[in-house]
Amino acid sequence: MAKDDSVLNQTMQAIEEKAVDTSKKVRVGLIGTGWIAEEHMRQFVKFPDAEVVAMADLIPGKAEKFCQRNGIDASNIHFYPDHASMLANEQLDAVSICTYNMTHAQCAIDALNAGVHVLLEKPFTVTLDEAVAVMKAEKASGKILSIGFQPRMDPNMQQIKKIVESGELGEIYYIQTGGGRRRGIPNSTFIEKKTAGVGALGDIGCYSLDMVLNAIGYPKPLTVTGYTSNFFGTNPLYSRPDQDHTAEENAARFNVDDFAAAFIRLEGGVILDFRISWAMHLDTPGDTVILGKKGALRIPSTECWNGTVGGEMTLYTDVAGLQTETKIPILPAPKPLFEMKIRSFLDAVKEGGQAPVPSSQILYNQAIIDGIMKSAEIGREIEITIPEI
Ligand SMILES: NC(=O)c1ccc[n+]([C@@H]2O[C@H](COP(=O)([O-])OP(=O)(O)OC[C@H]3O[C@@H](n4cnc5c(N)ncnc54)[C@H](O)[C@@H]3O)[C@@H](O)[C@H]2O)c1
Repeated sequence: MAKDDSVLNQTMQAIEEKAVDTSKKVRVGLIGTGWIAEEHMRQFVKFPDAEVVAMADLIPGKAEKFCQRNGIDASNIHFYPDHASMLANEQLDAVSICTYNMTHAQCAIDALNAGVHVLLEKPFTVTLDEAVAVMKAEKASGKILSIGFQPRMDPNMQQIKKIVESGELGEIYYIQTGGGRRRGIPNSTFIEKKTAGVGALGDIGCYSLDMVLNAIGYPKPLTVTGYTSNFFGTNPLYSRPDQDHTAEENAARFNVDDFAAAFIRLEGGVILDFRISWAMHLDTPGDTVILGKKGALRIPSTECWNGTVGGEMTLYTDVAGLQTETKIPILPAPKPLFEMKIRSFLDAVKEGGQAPVPSSQILYNQAIIDGIMKSAEIGREIEITIPEI
């Protein structure tokens, strides 16, 4: 590291290693052993104060094969055919829920009711009602529920929030956000309602929403006009084969959205203009922009949207009557984002702290996703009503 690289130096100082108390290991159960569970397992294995003692998957033998494929010593791991039998038979401190979206809510509710801390993969749930039900279980249990948004750990994301909170932009009145892939439709369990529940809107839209809503303090959503379509996923020309299906079969299976757009009114008079795409005839539907009465921030979109900042940001302000543009450099992450996501969850479990990504915030994210789906279905604006928890 160059001696004069003050930004990097500051960042590195800010993440001094904390001594990890290994006297008691956090006993973790992994629910769902698909693709993202591999990343969870990689992190848990790394930490000396955590151990994965149980794994569950609906597909017989999948969890066992997961261990063989990843070189995991399974001698101390118990395997279960579903999350319920795992929770009934194990004394766990925490679970990582890595199931497809449609079983997020039930797995989370059952784990919380069993008195277990929960790290739940994104999106929170599929519907708002499910999110509310999970939060009721969270409240009754007194356990930690954290939603798996690892971009929250990105110093660039944190910088967006710092810029907004610094007052440089003044009062925020309009935000444009979203992201796009020209071609980037996932396969497998992501393309059917019965497993995914929602398409691009929930899968990557939730990241865009979190980027800006977290920056401005998660105001309550009031109304939404939503649109969804699936012209690409349903067309064999644009779908891809996977190990179990041909491109034609995947196109026939596809019944979620691959594009969504919405106009959302937030409490405090902020307008949110949103679009998200797994596939379209365009590289990006636009950068994220935050307009305030004193300044504005442009956050470049990425080619393959996954919730990260796409390049150096630009801050637009007037300085002594001159229109100025300030480039905000990209900050290096002190550690892999996923590692920080799992570590922060473990720390909260051990220290009894706040959830790193609390459900009380992501509830509004989910309310918007739910609102977009409902509004798209009936073809007009709807009011968002969030039940008491
Ligand atoms: N944070 C990220 O970067 C990131 C990246 C990819 C996926 N995800 C999220 O992770 C989740 C899983 O994605 P994936 O690609 O691993 O999916 P996947 O379909 O590969 O794996 C999900 C597994 O969960 C199992 N399952 C479902 N319900 C279950 C239950 N009740 N008990 C036990 N097992 C159950 C399924 O059998 C399947 O094997 C999705 O919600 C997705 O949005 C997050």
